[in-house]
Amino acid sequence: MKPKDLKSPYKWNERVPLLKDGVFYVPNYYEKHDRGLFPSWEKIFGNSAPVHIEYCSGNGDWIIAQAQSHPEKNWVAVERKFERVRKIYSKRTNEQIDNLIIISGEALTFSKNYLQSQSVEGVYVNFPDPWPKDRHAKHRLIQDPFVDEVSRVVKKDGTLTLVSDSAPYIGQMESVMQSSMSWKKVSCPFEESYGNSYFEKLWRSLGRDIYFLHYDKT
Ligand SMILES: C[S@@+](CC[C@H](N)C(=O)[O-])C[C@H]1O[C@@H](n2cnc3c(N)ncnc32)[C@H](O)[C@@H]1O
Repeated sequence: MKPKDLKSPYKWNERVPLLKDGVFYVPNYYEKHDRGLFPSWEKIFGNSAPVHIEYCSGNGDWIIAQAQSHPEKNWVAVERKFERVRKIYSKRTNEQIDNLIIISGEALTFSKNYLQSQSVEGVYVNFPDPWPKDRHAKHRLIQDPFVDEVSRVVKKDGTLTLVSDSAPYIGQMESVMQSSMSWKKVSCPFEESYGNSYFEKLWRSLGRDIYFLHYDKT
């Protein structure tokens, strides 16, 4: 299948949260979120394997490879641009991957409204939009409200990994994480075998430095 073969399941004025064909749609500008609409991980995946979430999945290169090389885990891709959700969806279909679901929606909105506390083993955010201009920095994802949510949903001994090519953003991430009591910074045990996202390949090919931050939930 091709990305354009995935059609939006509703018109804008009829939008509702909806789980269809392994994609959970979380509409924007919508107030009536209801946690009951999102089934347990066991129901979604049909097993009780640990769940790992990648926020800001882009075209899905990294998480598709993870789902293939770690079938003993369940994977969740969260991406707000529908055009990119379509790319992840077509790759998942063509590669016949059954341990990956896709969230078509915004990271904080999804997590706050639909995730159970302490239900996730690992969280990854690879190259979140850096918003390099000072006046745009308020749009960055890695800020207190998002980290508070990640702290709520990750189990004890779970992990959080943040990757970026932006030194200023990595600095901000470190200070946000330092102010959270839930995490301990450790060296990333799998930096060499971490896998390659689209932006990781792009920035490495242009000679940019890549920074990893890795935390254990205390
Ligand atoms: C720079 S791209 C990185 C994509 C991918 N992780 C990679 O490394 O190739 C950032 C992605 O995050 C998505 N994104 C940004 N903010 C988001 C948010 N708040 N919730 C969900 N997705 C978001 C964007 O739509 C974009 O696809």
